[in-house]
Amino acid sequence: MPQELNSLANEMRDCQKCRLHLNRINVVPGEGNPHSEIVFVGEAPGAQENKLGRPFVGAAGEFLDNLLKMVGWNRQDVYITNIVKDQPPGNRDPMPDEIEICTSTWLKHQIKIIDPKVIVTLGRHAMNYFLPNMGSISQIHGRAFRKRNGKVYFPLFHPAVALYRPDMEKILKTDFKKLPKLLRQLDNLT
Ligand code: URA
Repeated sequence: MPQELNSLANEMRDCQKCRLHLNRINVVPGEGNPHSEIVFVGEAPGAQENKLGRPFVGAAGEFLDNLLKMVGWNRQDVYITNIVKDQPPGNRDPMPDEIEICTSTWLKHQIKIIDPKVIVTLGRHAMNYFLPNMGSISQIHGRAFRKRNGKVYFPLFHPAVALYRPDMEKILKTDFKKLPKLLRQLDNLT
């Protein structure tokens, strides 16, 4: 299975299916434990990620590392990726067609290979992709939603918002602390 993920990542390096490849220094496929029961899906690589080819290595990533540490995990335990794999120019939001092309070409397959029990969405773009028409992120963050495919989706605010809003930092920590229990409950079901 890791080989399957690796070969997907290799194919991604040559992807020219949308305009985002024009801004690519390094594609950012994702990283972590390919057997993880939990996958974190962010929005898009930023400048640091584009430079290094790794997800969440900037300031938001540092906060994500802290959240993981807070519940006794680290990034090698889980899998971390994004809905789009290249940095949008100037860090603008990814556009709907870019999200559609990138998720149907890459993310869908990554999720199929890893087959996690829980998908944690970070920010509203990832939430809207997995949980469309469910309400705003302010309404549904920190709650678990099980879909007919058996997977559980858990929307969180994006860690970047906590960098400039202490109230959000508190909410993110409160929501994040629910994850280990959620996983334990799901383990007991199967
Ligand atoms: N870094 C990422 O890899 N994804 C984000 O959504 C933000 C920063």
